[in-house]
Amino acid sequence: MESAIDSHLTCPRSISRRVPDDYEPPFPMWVGRADHRIQQVTMAYLGVQSSGAEHRTEALAAVRQIAASLEHADGPAHHDITHHTDNQGYDNFMIVGYWSDPSAFGRWMSSPDVDSWWSSTDRETGPLGYFREIVSPRVDQFETLYAFQEQLPGVGALMNGISGDINEHGYWGSMRERIPLSQNDWMQPRRDESLRVVHGDPAHGGRVVVAGHDNIALIRSGQDWREAGQAERDLYLDEIQPTLQAGMDFLRDNGADVGCYSNRLVQNIDLDGNPVDETYNIGHWRSLEKLERWAESHPTHLRIFTTFFKVATDLDKLRLYHEVSVADGASQLFEYINCHPATGMMRDAVVAATV
Ligand code: HEM
Repeated sequence: MESAIDSHLTCPRSISRRVPDDYEPPFPMWVGRADHRIQQVTMAYLGVQSSGAEHRTEALAAVRQIAASLEHADGPAHHDITHHTDNQGYDNFMIVGYWSDPSAFGRWMSSPDVDSWWSSTDRETGPLGYFREIVSPRVDQFETLYAFQEQLPGVGALMNGISGDINEHGYWGSMRERIPLSQNDWMQPRRDESLRVVHGDPAHGGRVVVAGHDNIALIRSGQDWREAGQAERDLYLDEIQPTLQAGMDFLRDNGADVGCYSNRLVQNIDLDGNPVDETYNIGHWRSLEKLERWAESHPTHLRIFTTFFKVATDLDKLRLYHEVSVADGASQLFEYINCHPATGMMRDAVVAATV
């Protein structure tokens, strides 16, 4: 058994673990192992928003345009494409790219074609909205957890290896303990920090920039049943998915009460918009601690968690995983262009009073 924290990121702890030294998890799970030269990654959620079936073709054309722009010398090592309908009834498509080097991301974003498309005033009017939610956590600021060992999705696709069975899982608080920084840092935001609108006004549409703050937590929790046989499909679709949907609806609609700034349960799609049997939750939280409190107390997650514990050792083709990161405020960008005012981080952002 090995530590989830890679050897080069292990250091003397000032914060002790939640379990005794001889703790052994009840079933095996694995984490991604990155090339030691990777120091920081970029996760970019590039969105297209539309309302009504009549704008779907146009929205999908914009999705294809963004996806094509990733085919660039400085493009991401991996991307996927999703769709979800939000609680205002809008369709949202996201092209989600992962870069193993933020400077390559910076070069991609400032390359003339990409920059001019995103900066154009053409984006600020018309039936479509666009958004960019970008975070760049360092390798000591994120963790992964997989119930499988091949073809890692999400940030795992940047990692060139998988661990052996890891020790830090199977108890509340283990997600935190898989993040290397947790050895010496509680990763809390400052009490007086909140989301702030620093450009534009959500109520007026147009272009809006929201400033984040240190230690915003981002979770991607994925479910992939593309290859699952009938028994695993039934297990997932009958016993897990309805509860997951209820939990995700709760966070989407009541997130502000529990410290969840934005919550989306998204469906993977192909370039023509056809759904595939893969979904994930993408949630932005005020802090890791708020995320932990929800996971260990909400009846929906507790029910899913218990089901998982019963079936974990028998899982074959049903692929369940998550990745959780925190990022410095300076390594975050949240921009909304022509989107409705409850989109993403705009919902909870404070608009500075004008004098
Ligand atoms: C942890 C199951 C979806 C948030 C866990 C663990 C399991 C689990 C078994 C413990 C893993 C371990 O350490 O061994 C599932 C299943 C899901 C699901 C089967 C869906 C099919 C979600 C979603 C969220 C979430 C959508 C989003 C908020 C968390 C968090 C932890 C966790 C934050 C870490 C708790 C901690 O270590 O303190 N989940 N989960 N889960 N889950 Fe989920």
